[in-house]
Amino acid sequence: MSLPAPRKKRRIHFDDDEGPKRSHSISSSPSTPLQKQREQLPIAKERDALIREIRENDVTILLGETGSGKTTQVPQYLLEAGLAGKGMIAVTQPRRVAATSLAARVAAERGVKLGSLVGYSVRFDEICGADTKIKYVSDGMLVRELLSDPLLSRYSVIVLDEAHERTLRTDFLIANLKSIQVKRKQATDVKGKGKCTSSAVNPLKIIVMSATLDAEKFSRFYHNARILYVKGRQHPVKIFYTAVNQTDYVDSALRTFFQIHLDQPPGDVLIFLPGQEDIESLEKSIKMHAKRLPVLVSLMYASLPPSQQARIFSATPPQTRKCILATNIAETSITIPGIKYVIDTGKSKEKRYLSKDTGGGFDTLLTRDITKASAMQRAGRAGREGPGFCFRLYTEEAFNNLAAASEPEIRRCSLTQSVLELKCLGQDLETVEFMDPPDINSVVAALKTLWILGALDDSKTLTPLGRQMASFPVEPYLARIILASSTHECTSEVIDIVSMISSSSKLFLDISDQRDAIASARSKFRHPSGDHLTILNTLRAYQEMAETENKSSRKEWCKQHFLNERTFTEALKIRDQLRVTCGRVGLDWRASKKDSEDPVLRSFTVGLVQQSALLQPDGSYKQLMGRSVVKIHPGSTLADKKVPAIIFDELVYTNQIYARGVSSVPRSYFNGATPAIPNGS
Ligand code: CDP
Ligand code: MG
Repeated sequence: MSLPAPRKKRRIHFDDDEGPKRSHSISSSPSTPLQKQREQLPIAKERDALIREIRENDVTILLGETGSGKTTQVPQYLLEAGLAGKGMIAVTQPRRVAATSLAARVAAERGVKLGSLVGYSVRFDEICGADTKIKYVSDGMLVRELLSDPLLSRYSVIVLDEAHERTLRTDFLIANLKSIQVKRKQATDVKGKGKCTSSAVNPLKIIVMSATLDAEKFSRFYHNARILYVKGRQHPVKIFYTAVNQTDYVDSALRTFFQIHLDQPPGDVLIFLPGQEDIESLEKSIKMHAKRLPVLVSLMYASLPPSQQARIFSATPPQTRKCILATNIAETSITIPGIKYVIDTGKSKEKRYLSKDTGGGFDTLLTRDITKASAMQRAGRAGREGPGFCFRLYTEEAFNNLAAASEPEIRRCSLTQSVLELKCLGQDLETVEFMDPPDINSVVAALKTLWILGALDDSKTLTPLGRQMASFPVEPYLARIILASSTHECTSEVIDIVSMISSSSKLFLDISDQRDAIASARSKFRHPSGDHLTILNTLRAYQEMAETENKSSRKEWCKQHFLNERTFTEALKIRDQLRVTCGRVGLDWRASKKDSEDPVLRSFTVGLVQQSALLQPDGSYKQLMGRSVVKIHPGSTLADKKVPAIIFDELVYTNQIYARGVSSVPRSYFNGATPAIPNGS
């Protein structure tokens, strides 16, 4: 792709093409103390009214523009008004980066150390203590807490933030909190009448917050709950649309970025793109063109390790413009300092369950047009510290045709883990009162998977094995693999591998034009059976090296082998947690076999039986359960190999269906690996 620096005649034309004026200036007052900033937020004027309403109502729905101060201020107001009582205030976030960065901000506003009065809890990472009163949590973590504390009795107030995102976990909480509130109320009433003295359960307050929410719908669900609106926004954001439709959004984003960079006053730029590939390609193009004009490019996408994601929050050096390329994980909740311009391509990747009927049977990510709610959130990232500008790379007409809000995840994602969690709570997905009920076919698919994994018996009842599986903070199929390893006495090896594949960053850096160099650098780790044992060899080699080497040699070693060191550090933390869980469910994680190849692959086959394929006479691989033909991913150690049967970690769908994380196993491993499948299913 050849992309000249934008010249005048190739400019992208926006409807109001004068753009922001150079003369425009943001207040350049010296950094104001945080307290003063707090007082200037639009929500501050409503503080007393808000507290009064929340005090009087069990459920409150709070709407307010992005940046009005909902997420950072409401929990503090509740605390200051004594509404936390003896309990804690939980604030849920659909994304972990939001939970961790908000906790840090609120701790700073209160002048306390993170982890004392204010803390956070996300999967595999928690900073809070005995005196924590405000806790920012990922919605998934709160769901897990339900399993050990079904009334969430530690919390006095639960704030469901960014509820418009309608993640599976948020919907799960929306449904459960409704019944928990009733139960806790009953418990308190009984206690009040002196019939019961042992219950320490207090009433629960629920607050639902968002900038873009179908408030009426939430209100109806919660018995006509009170809806409150916070008026006003802190800073204006001016929106520009393109004059005509853009065909190549990466190219348009590049041109728009340089139009801003060359013509507009200082201020950092945040560009929203659908996924990692587009982000990497735009990064290359920007760097290529930015030689003479200093630009600091930072990336932000889900599979980037948390520590690397955190870089977007660091200060921009003087005389430099920061440009952040992000997926929708930077869309809600967060404040990125310095951002004045947002470029919105109008696209995102959305998780969808491809049903068996369409040849799938798995979750996949598809690039789609965003919703109006997303567009508003994206624009909102520009007006957090001063007036901002948002360049939408689509026409105003296209914006008007966008859907208002996205379909809830519960209607489009795999429900396996949720069904298992509900079963542990003694509930059935079919009978829980959800705001939007799930599709019956997805429920059946989830039940079938759990039954195949042995978590449910023939009458859909939770088995002891299923309960053990739910204890592990990983997907049910991975939990099943860990439990199977106990029979095959190789838990130590299996946990090592599961930790590595649960890490959010990819271990094997895959640079397509260097595949030969990469293969030779890594050949010593290569295990003939495929990727799972190759990962184990790699981890062992890393640990052996790390015992004697210092930080910089460790880094160099990883670089030489094209490996991502963060995967190791993250995996070692996950491993600690999995080992602790093993202890809790009575499994000896130290169990290890000298010749572990066979036992490890047998354990993996038990969990991956639905993620397996058999070689066909024509040389293709066809799913063992399902109709799809799959190819081995070119980045796999088994790429181009023909073996009788494979198991794999995941399927990725591009123009073909690729299996990633592949191992070769004898066909005989599948005998008896599943309960007998009844006819017709
Ligand atoms: O939740 P909502 O979008 O209403 O706003 P918020 O997250 O409570 O943030 C309110 C304001 O606090 C932002 O617009 C920023 O000005 C400031 N803030 C900040 O400077 N740094 C943060 N990490 C969080 C918030
Ligand atoms: Mg917020």
